[in-house]
Amino acid sequence: MNYLGKVFLAARRFFNYKLYEMKNFNLLFLLGFILLLASCDKKEEESITINPYHDAYEEAAKVLNLPEIANDYTVHFPAYLNNNSFFPASVNNSKATLGRVLFYDKNLSKTKEVSCASCHQQDKGFADGKQFSDGVSGRKTTRNSIGLGSTVNFGAYYGTASFFNINFFWDDRATSVAEQSRGSLTNSKEMDMDMDLVEQRVKENEKYYKWLFMEAYADGINEDNILDAIQQFVNSMGSYQSEFDKGMNANNGQEYNQFSNFSTSENRGKKIFMDNCTSCHSKFAARSSVPMANNGLAMTYADKGKGALTNNSYDDGVFKVPSLRNLSLTAPYMHDGSIATLEEVVEHYSTGIVKHKNLHNNLKSGDQPKHLNLSAEQKADLVNFLRTFDDETIASDERYSDPFK
Ligand code: HEC
Ligand code: HEC
Repeated sequence: MNYLGKVFLAARRFFNYKLYEMKNFNLLFLLGFILLLASCDKKEEESITINPYHDAYEEAAKVLNLPEIANDYTVHFPAYLNNNSFFPASVNNSKATLGRVLFYDKNLSKTKEVSCASCHQQDKGFADGKQFSDGVSGRKTTRNSIGLGSTVNFGAYYGTASFFNINFFWDDRATSVAEQSRGSLTNSKEMDMDMDLVEQRVKENEKYYKWLFMEAYADGINEDNILDAIQQFVNSMGSYQSEFDKGMNANNGQEYNQFSNFSTSENRGKKIFMDNCTSCHSKFAARSSVPMANNGLAMTYADKGKGALTNNSYDDGVFKVPSLRNLSLTAPYMHDGSIATLEEVVEHYSTGIVKHKNLHNNLKSGDQPKHLNLSAEQKADLVNFLRTFDDETIASDERYSDPFK
């Protein structure tokens, strides 16, 4: 670290320390005195070692592979998204860092064998590649894991917009990541905890959580802060550097332009998508135009989706319209993971849609399912286009990786 960096670090620690021990004037005075001494003979390192933040960091660093100054989680959207009123969530770096540790911590499940990351794996766009996920004690979830890295930015995608809200889970039953996380932590098929036990497990691991909470929350370890931190981490996730984004940005969001970074096939596939899919999935693949729908997967659904929550028969088989980024990483597809490949997804929209009683109007012509009846070439074009949504930077970004040593 250069000299300026060291001075900055020392000043920041001093300031933190002041806040931390505001009432203890004696200690504060002592620290000031030592700092003064240290600055005279330029041995800042000595003053640093008596800082409780630094001491706590040293403890945490035995277990965690994290920098002492939190990583920057700021998201910088390409201009075309901002120009179309999409803005990333603002994230607090210390809170997101704490959230990252919680996300990867298996101690937060009953049997200490499962973490959020077990079912939301970085190299799979934060899905898990399985039809159903493995929870504690060999239990399986009843739905396909959702790729958390498949939105343009998690916070922006779900954030409260004036026109409508998109909620969480395949049936939209949670209204915030905090609420969703409480759901995952306490679901008997996932982590099987209660929130008191979650808090207790965090406290049992003060060795590394002490420093993280000191940096992130003045009021320390409690349920709200735990959930908030996870939310901050998840909200910072996103994929906005795909070929699709580059093309859109170069063309100021004009979706029907020929994108020069696309192959001929990808450009043809783009037109099929813009003509037939954006009424639900939206043209920027940034926020679905319709939050939930039935897309005619089957005549009867074993899982009623939204209908199981509302008990309205018109909600049976109605599920989240998912975000389509990073599809190459997040197979298998649909709420039940019933479709294994993108080729089969395209076949579904080409010839497979069935006349379910709740089939959404956007997939009907008259009162019949709308089959696109694509040629072999058109199907390949559409698949090629769907892969332009891939942005694998999220899959290798160190800020989202497992922080445990
Ligand atoms: C046992 C596997 C499993 C674990 C552990 C797990 N999840 Fe999930 N997650 C899923 C599945 C499956 C879904 C879809 C469930 C549904 O829709 O009912 C999901 C959905 C979600 C969603 C909703 C995404 C969306 O776009 O609607 C979020 C956010 C999420 N999980 C975050 C987390 C966090 C944070 C944790 C840890 C606190 C966690 N998950 C733990 C399997 C898991
Ligand atoms: C009526 C709105 C609607 C239209 C139009 C629509 N979809 Fe979908 N799409 C959905 C819904 C709803 C789901 C999830 C259904 C489920 O899981 O039961 C889905 C799921 C998908 C998935 C799976 C994503 C995942 O992560 O599991 C892909 C891929 C997809 N659609 C692509 C397309 C393409 C390509 C088109 C155009 C040919 C299209 N969709 C048109 C509503 C729609």
